[in-house]
Order: sequence, then structure tokens, then C-alpha cells
Amino acid sequence: MEALLGDRAGWKVVKDNARNLICYHPADRLYFKSFDHSSAGETLKRALRGSRARRTLLGTRLLQEAGCLAPDVVACGTLLHQDFVVMEDLDGPQLLNALHSYLQEPERRAWRRQLYRALGQTIGTLHAARIAHGDLRPNNVIIHPGKDGYRLGLIDNERTRRPVRFRREQLRNLKQIMLLDERYITAAERRTFFAAYFSRFPQGHRLQRSRAARRAIQRTVIDEVRAHFSRRAPVSGTPIPAEGWQALAGLQPAS
Ligand SMILES: Nc1ncnc2c1ncn2[C@@H]1O[C@H](COP(=O)(O)OP(=O)(O)O)[C@@H](O)[C@H]1O
Ligand SMILES: [Mg+2]
Repeated sequence: MEALLGDRAGWKVVKDNARNLICYHPADRLYFKSFDHSSAGETLKRALRGSRARRTLLGTRLLQEAGCLAPDVVACGTLLHQDFVVMEDLDGPQLLNALHSYLQEPERRAWRRQLYRALGQTIGTLHAARIAHGDLRPNNVIIHPGKDGYRLGLIDNERTRRPVRFRREQLRNLKQIMLLDERYITAAERRTFFAAYFSRFPQGHRLQRSRAARRAIQRTVIDEVRAHFSRRAPVSGTPIPAEGWQALAGLQPAS
């Protein structure tokens, strides 16, 4: 950390493990993320596909061109054998944490239902452009408040791409984002999500023409989620400060 960023630069460590160092600079509102590529596997992948830092830049560009919100990459390079990106901070709570801390009370049901509609539209927009996110877990979605309402932004874009086997990645993303237990999503909210998701595919697309195709996707994802929860304990959100709700409470999704 000190070697990479110096010790007086105002960076705070968010995460530091064998694969990544992630730091935040509150004064400049920037994130730094570096990627270790010293293992043989990573060296090979880097030679074939480019560094994870460069792929973050390309993935971000793809998202933004498709009309999705993602934090701008302001710098990208290699330092002391580490590939890194510097990104803007997309402010707002992470989806799973917000569901955990703000959205379990019955009075917030209406807000939460709209959130699932917006989430379906966001992921639908992504997939209609044949882009898949590399790791669409709920905490990689940020509820970003703005003047005209909130938008849902996608972070952690080092594996965001246009995959060759799109359908496989599409199902994988849908399963990742739906891995929420009954505290966080009801059966009706899952249906709201999927209806909004399918609405984003263009006229003439198979998913617009064929109800059977839509049902097959929805059924497959929900069955996989159920099977997952029969094997593994559900993941809980991290509690976040109650005051954070004030910035969101009066907002609707931006159109
Ligand atoms: N550009 C960003 N804007 C806001 N928060 C970010 C940003 N980048 C990283 N974070 C925060 O840092 C955490 C880890 O970053 P992420 O890229 O998701 O790494 P990981 O691969 O460890 O999941 C995120 O869950 C989020 O809290
Ligand atoms: Mg992440």
C-alpha cells in the first residue's frame, strides 16, 4: 500500500488481499483498485485478454455506451508490477446493504417495489445490448441519488464484456442478482423484476415474441436460486447508517 500510493496521500484501505488492493481517497472522492497478476494463471490471462485494469476501462465504456451508469475510469496503468485503475466514486448505498438496513419495513414496500422495477429495467438494458456483468451480486449495484431521482449504477467491471456465449452469462447474471432471500425480496417482487427486465428487449426480439421463452428464463433462474438456498445459507447485507435513507426516501427512479 505504502509502496504503491505513498503514506501521506490521504488514501484509506478498503480491502487488501492477495488479488486486489482497494483504497478510497475521501478528499478527491476516488477509488483505486489494483490487480495482482503474478500467478501463472493471471499472467496467461493477462497476455490473452489484457490486464484487468484495461478490461475495467473497456467494460465501463461498453456500459456507458449502452446507457448504463458506471463510475468513470480516470486513470489506468501499471505500477510496481501491479495493474491499477483509478475510478470516480459512485456515491450511494450498495443494493444489498440498502435492502438490509432500509427496506425491510412494511411502510417501505412501495419504494422497494419501484426499486425492483428499476433494477429489472437496468439489467434488461444491459442484456438487451448483449453485455454481461462479470459479477452481478447485489452489492455491485449502487443506488445513486441525483436531482431527477435515483439511478442504479454498476461497479466492479473488470469482467464486464460482450460474451461469446451470451445466454449462459445472461442466466448467470440473473441468478447472481436474484440471490436474495425472503427478507429482501418477495415472490411478487421477483415477478416485478422480470416483467421490467423483459420489457427492455426490442420489438421482434425472441424475448418479446415468445412468452414461453420468457417463462423458461424466469423459471430456470428462480429454480436455481431456490436450489442454491437449499445448499447454502443466505448472505446478509452489512448494516449501514440510518441517516443514509434521507437522501433516498423522497426519490423515485430517474426516467
Ligand atoms: N467506483 C466505486 N464507487 C463506489 N464504491 C466503490 C467503487 N469501487 C469500489 N467501491 C467499493 O469498494 C468495494 C469493493 O470494490 P469492488 O470493485 O466491488 O471489488 P471486489 O472485487 O472486492 O468486489 C465495493 O463493494 C464498494 O463498496
Ligand atoms: Mg464487488
